[in-house]
Amino acid sequence: MEKHKVTIGQLRSKKEKGQKITMMTAYDYPTARLVDEAGIDTILVGDSLGMVMLGYESTVPVTLDEMVHHCKAVNRGVKNAFVIGDMPFMSYQVSVEKAVENAGRLIKESLCDAVKLEGGSEMAHVVKALVTAGAPVCAHIGLTPQTATMLSGFKVQGKDAEGAAKLVQSAKDLEQAGAFMIVMECIPDLLAARITKELTIPTVGIGAGKDCDGQVLVYHDLVGLFERFTPKFVKQYVNLSPMIRDALSRYKKEVEEGSFPGTEHTFAMNPEEASKI
Ligand code: KIV
Repeated sequence: MEKHKVTIGQLRSKKEKGQKITMMTAYDYPTARLVDEAGIDTILVGDSLGMVMLGYESTVPVTLDEMVHHCKAVNRGVKNAFVIGDMPFMSYQVSVEKAVENAGRLIKESLCDAVKLEGGSEMAHVVKALVTAGAPVCAHIGLTPQTATMLSGFKVQGKDAEGAAKLVQSAKDLEQAGAFMIVMECIPDLLAARITKELTIPTVGIGAGKDCDGQVLVYHDLVGLFERFTPKFVKQYVNLSPMIRDALSRYKKEVEEGSFPGTEHTFAMNPEEASKI
């Protein structure tokens, strides 16, 4: 499989030219292939996989081993997209040394192109250490699901002037620390537009309005495969769950009534050989 990987330079140049950056989550080989074939610029192997793939209540229980496992599968399916692996909760907060070790493991074992971590100015020193060690970092500010409890739940962030100023400062500190891109989740569109304008690195929004340099959605939300809840910012482009349910119940019915498998799905034996058994 010949690879023509999207680069950090190309992402930056898209921002400079005013071309939108596309990002989509993927957690497995077949989905990664579909996303890559669609020409999406970047694939995020988000720790959202804990909820949409593994059935956890939140992203908090996701382990580094689980991230490595899913990132490996995704990377086997990707030719062109730039692949970012999420650092799970407590894999980068304990110490800078642990963060470097864990980011190194994610990149070395799964062959991700970069890592993503959540947090604002307080995480800038970790971003700096990772980048110095040679690990490209995508930052993530606004609603940070790993620490949603500290934020009193899944709420829009930066709605008042003080919160907004803090997020602007965080974005600047993370850029200064060497992050090559920033995901902004659930913040008002005006604030996202202001941060996008002030940074030289690209911003990618989810629930942050249309003026970000790019957009990201969770694959399972986009295709209707996650039915527990749907945030306001999600646009469902297709609803696969009912289609899959219908296919499964038709299969069950046909097996039970004996109409599947038909002759077209069956291997016949040479009649002469058949007569001997
Ligand atoms: O884990 C994830 O999928 C994410 C996106 C929602 C940005 O962090």
